[in-house]
Amino acid sequence: MRRKIVMGNWKLNGTKESVEALLTGILPAAQATTTADVAVCAPDIFIDQVSRKLADTPIAWGAENNDVHTSGAYTGETSPTMLKEFGCTYVLVGHSERRQYHGESDASCAHKYALLQEHGLIPVLCIGETLEERESDRTNDVIRKQLAPVLNDLGVETLKNAVIAYEPVWAIGTGKAATKEMAQEVHAFIRQLIAEKSAEVAQGVQVLYGGSVKGANAVELFAQEDIDGALVGGAALIVEEFDAIIKAAG
Ligand code: G3P
Repeated sequence: MRRKIVMGNWKLNGTKESVEALLTGILPAAQATTTADVAVCAPDIFIDQVSRKLADTPIAWGAENNDVHTSGAYTGETSPTMLKEFGCTYVLVGHSERRQYHGESDASCAHKYALLQEHGLIPVLCIGETLEERESDRTNDVIRKQLAPVLNDLGVETLKNAVIAYEPVWAIGTGKAATKEMAQEVHAFIRQLIAEKSAEVAQGVQVLYGGSVKGANAVELFAQEDIDGALVGGAALIVEEFDAIIKAAG
């Protein structure tokens, strides 16, 4: 039985004041759930504040990206060792916004993924197709290609210390979530691809859905056999919504 994870991705949002209010607001629901893990991935600038606020609470925290170096002349970057020092558990890898605006490739994502694991952090590998790819019936090919460097080069066993987030690009921030059937179909395909290498790993890996998850659609998404929680953007910034999503996870 896989535990559910409800994870917020704050993206480029927040103020010191809003972070304080949001974390205070979601804490009771996170403390009440016994079946789900709750986590927030924050902009680097807030990670110290988040770590102080969430120390000794059941909410884990993480970052939205990391550099592929641990130190050196790389202006503007944050290394996995820095994230680890500030208590991060998770780091998002290959979010579609990073792929789109920062040219991240499947290979560079795999590099980051491996480095995170080397430093004791859990990569949350984000994959998903664009609208054009879905409409031309290429969803499975895209998913296979995005997972290939991890499955074929790094090895299926690495997924024992990773999380996958299926985020169809067309559902992100649009208010149009995938239907539960659409999401389940891709999640099952992801698990099948992994099972071709290891049935044991496929059974254990947590695959989150992301893309316009709200309190109102979380229950039906979470009821699907292969959906193990959510990676939440906009609704993770609203206490009532994130609270409802946590409750939907049990
Ligand atoms: O990583 C979460 C995300 O991309 C989904 O965003 O705003 O559609 O929940 P949103």
